[in-house]
Parts: sequence; structure tokens; C-alpha cells
Amino acid sequence: MLLSVTVVLGLLSCVCGENPAVQVVLTNKGLQYGKHEAAGWIQERLSKITFPDITGSVHIIFGNVDYTLTGITIVKCDLPEPSVEFLQNPPGFQTTISDLSIAITGDWRTHFGLIHDGGTFDMAIYNVDVTSVAQLGKEADGHPSVSSLSCHSQVGDVDIEFHGGASFIFQPFVKHFKGRIRDEIQKRLCPGVEGNIQSFEDHLHVMNVSVDVNEVLTLALPLTDVPIIGASGMNVGLKGEFYNIKTPVEPPFEAQPFTMPDEPSYMLSVGMSDFTLNSASYAYFSAKLLQLLITDSMIPPISPVHLNTTSLGKFIPKLAEMYPDMLMSVLVYAQEAPKFSIQPDAINVSIKAVAKASVILPNGTQIPVFTINVDSKFSSELWIDDGKLKGSVKMDNVTLTLASSEVGTFKTDSLESLARTGGKFVLVKVNQKLREGFLVLRTKYAQLVNSVLKKEKGFLSISSDVQVVLT
Ligand SMILES: *[C@@H]1O[C@H](CO)[C@@H](O)[C@H](O)[C@H]1NC(C)=O
Ligand SMILES: *[C@@H]1O[C@H](CO)[C@@H](O)[C@H](O)[C@H]1NC(C)=O
Ligand SMILES: *[C@@H]1O[C@H](CO)[C@@H](O)[C@H](O)[C@H]1NC(C)=O
Ligand SMILES: *[C@@H]1O[C@H](CO)[C@@H](O)[C@H](O)[C@H]1NC(C)=O
Ligand SMILES: *[C@@H]1O[C@H](CO)[C@@H](O)[C@H](O)[C@H]1NC(C)=O
Repeated sequence: MLLSVTVVLGLLSCVCGENPAVQVVLTNKGLQYGKHEAAGWIQERLSKITFPDITGSVHIIFGNVDYTLTGITIVKCDLPEPSVEFLQNPPGFQTTISDLSIAITGDWRTHFGLIHDGGTFDMAIYNVDVTSVAQLGKEADGHPSVSSLSCHSQVGDVDIEFHGGASFIFQPFVKHFKGRIRDEIQKRLCPGVEGNIQSFEDHLHVMNVSVDVNEVLTLALPLTDVPIIGASGMNVGLKGEFYNIKTPVEPPFEAQPFTMPDEPSYMLSVGMSDFTLNSASYAYFSAKLLQLLITDSMIPPISPVHLNTTSLGKFIPKLAEMYPDMLMSVLVYAQEAPKFSIQPDAINVSIKAVAKASVILPNGTQIPVFTINVDSKFSSELWIDDGKLKGSVKMDNVTLTLASSEVGTFKTDSLESLARTGGKFVLVKVNQKLREGFLVLRTKYAQLVNSVLKKEKGFLSISSDVQVVLT
């Protein structure tokens, strides 16, 4: 496992400046929705900020009074809707929060010689403004990165009231406290924002840019370039290549460039070129996983044709003659990786396979009898319904050609129509599954709504709105 991870990383680091096979576009609509959801989260975080105690001393007529403000907590915080916008160069976001108001409460204590006094205080902080610019980037290995480019903060005004003890003595010094507390808050705002950006960056840094899809495939999704911010929003190009987990190798073809459609009325769009499908196909093929041994037991009992020499002898007379009434098996394997081609009207798949038929002698020995090349073409449809990706496949053409035979030459027409019938039978089952939906566009935290799927030459795109699911 570790070895394969290292090999994949090795492959990733040596391919640079390649075309992304997956593109994710975040539109301004998506950005504004994300901001709105994040604002609620930030408001919650603000109420959990803890302030350290503030100590100092003030000089009054009789001498120095030492004071401490403790247990400072936020009781109310009105976060107005922040504004967020894309920045083009360098790519990033500018976030502005204006007119934030915070009400805080706490305890005060004073020491004047041996006299101790104390009570509570209420404070309101008005017109807090914070503007932060975060820059987006890409690490050498394709990890996304984010850093704080600039931050400005300003605290407008502070009101403070002391209660209990000899608080009347304090009231004259409110002005002094106001300044100190305003400074304390202002001093903390930008470092707080920068700390949050840094902790987000720390998450990105350790985030996996490969996702294991099943036991065979891993999908590599490092950035191919820094995010590009244009008129339609932010475009993030990802490698989008499947590898075989055990033996990752580069396929003998490359991702072709494609241009995402402009869909500003959706929050986001994800585009995927046929390279992604073909890399999955190649990963299975290169690991020799695209093969299937067909035996008579796999053929439904009601079928008029069975995988034995009596049954197939009707089409290949010499077979029945040489091996009377014996079971057979057929090993079917891909001659090359099945090729996917996304077209505006369908996703076409062409499969070149080889079928090697053998006779099973009564003592179990298998004797190869003929080899047939099977070229088949399928076309499939994909659509989104009820939050699921659904599809259907139909067989467009099957051509059988005899490659070699130990039982004399024979015409393949009859076998071809058998293959067609068998194929249709299998597709009925496949289509049942595909119609139920094979990919749910929903996670624990968010789901895609109003999604549309479009196919164009060489790629497909899903444009969608997102709904955050509150947990
Ligand atoms: C990253 O992937 C590895 C192995 O696939 C896994 O063990 C680890 O938990 C993943 N890390 C994260 C943060 O998802
Ligand atoms: C061969 O298949 C036919 C049906 O096509 C069946 O009647 C026959 O019993 C089978 N023979 C063997 C050996 O399985
Ligand atoms: C894809 O398949 C469809 C349906 O069979 C066919 O009409 C179309 O010509 C095919 N396109 C390509 C480029 O092979
Ligand atoms: C099985 O039978 C065939 C033909 O009768 C013979 O040539 C072969 O050696 C036998 N194989 C075994 C493993 O007995
Ligand atoms: C099926 O494919 C063969 C060759 O691959 C071609 O000659 C034939 O016209 C095709 N048939 C159809 C119905 O597309």
C-alpha cells in the first residue's frame, strides 16, 4: 500500500503542465451561498472566543489603584452579512465584515493598598470592521493552498458600565478602560483571522489528493494549476486520472483540453473529460482484470442454447463430431482497454475482445477449439433524477471474426446473433441497476439540487446548486 502510494506520488510529481481531466467551477452564486452558510458558523465561533484577563493600574487622587478585568465573555454578537468577492490576480477572495457589534460581560476587581473591591461590568463594542484577503495557490505536489495576503481591522467605539462595589470610583476612569479594551480587541482580530486561514491551510496540506474508489482504483485529483478566477467564477483544474492501486502506470494517451460551459445561474459545475473514463478502463485493463470465464452454469437453464458441443455443434458441425456431447467454456478478455468517447448524443464505448473457446473433456482436461475476435460498440445515456446519477446502455453492434480454429472454418453469423441475444440479456440486468441510480449526489453535509447533466464533444458536465444539510 505504502509502495503504491509512493509510486502514485512519483507519477504525480513528474507530470506538469498537463490538461486537467476534471474541472470544478465555483460561480459567484455559489460563493455567495457558501458565504451565507459560513457566516452562521463564524457567528457561532465568535461567541466562543475567550479573552485573557486585563490588568493595569490607574492613578487617582489617593494613589495607584490596581485593577483586573476577568471572565470576559461575549454575551451577544450581531454579525452583519459579510461581503465576499473573487479577486483575480493573485487568485483569491476578499472578505469584509462591517459594523459588527459585540456585547461582552465580565468581573472587575481592584486593589488599593489593603482595600479590595469588585463587581461586574457590561461592555458594548460597536462598528468593528475587518477586511481580509486570502490568496489561493497550489503546492508543487498538487495540494491546494491558501494564505492570508492582508488583513485590516478597526474597532469603532466602546461603551462600558461598572456595577457593584465602589464602582462609582471607577466611572471617572471609563475613558481609560475604553481605550485599552479597544486596543486589546483590535490587536486580536487580524491574528485571529490569520490563525483561522492558517489552520485551514494545515488541513489542506495533509488532505488526500487521491481517493480510493474501490479495491482496484484510486482517483488522483491534484490541482494541475493554480485556480483561475475569471468572469464566470473560479475554475479549479484537477488531474482526474484513475490508477490501479497495486500497479499504477500511465496510459498511452493524454487528457485533451476542454472548455467548461458558462453556467452562472448554478452554484457550481463539474466537468469531466472522457480521459477520466478511459484512465479507469486502462487501469482495469493493465491489471488484467478485464477477463471473464464463461461456463455453462452461468447460462440460464431456460436458454435454448447451452455451452456444450451438442448445442454449438448445430453451428459448427465438426465440433460435435470431434467432441460429442461435452461441456465447453469460453474465456473472454479485452484485447485493448475499452475506449469511451463522450459525444453530445451519447457516451460511446467500443470494446475489442477475444473469446477463446475450449471443450472440457470428461476427465477435466480443457482442449482449445477456436478463437474469435469480438468487436462491440455500445452507447449509453446518463441523466440525473431524484438526486441520483442514472443511466442506460444499449448495444449498437457486435462483429465476430474467426481468428483461429481447431475444428475447421465456420461462419460466425449464427454465433454473432447468439452473442447479440446474450448481450441483450445481460444488458437488461445492467440497465435495471443503472435505472435505479448508481451514484448518489448527496453526502452527510451537503446535497446537489437542481442538477443538470450535459454532454459535449469529449466531456460531460454537471451544473448544480448545493444545499448544505444542517447536522
Ligand atoms: C489519506 O489516505 C490514507 C490512505 O488511503 C488514509 O489512511 C488516511 O486516513 C487519509 N487521510 C485523510 C485525511 O483522509
Ligand atoms: C447440451 O445442451 C442441450 C440444450 O441445448 C441439452 O439438451 C444437453 O443436455 C446439453 N448437454 C450437456 C452435456 O450438457
Ligand atoms: C456514438 O453512438 C451513437 C449511437 O449509436 C452513434 O449515432 C454515433 O455516430 C456514435 N458516435 C461516434 C463518434 O462514434
Ligand atoms: C484426459 O483424456 C485425454 C483423452 O482421453 C487424454 O489425452 C489426457 O491425457 C487425459 N488427461 C488426464 C489429466 O488424465
Ligand atoms: C458493425 O460493425 C461492422 C464492422 O465493425 C460494420 O461493417 C457494420 O456496418 C456495423 N453495423 C452496424 C449496424 O453499425
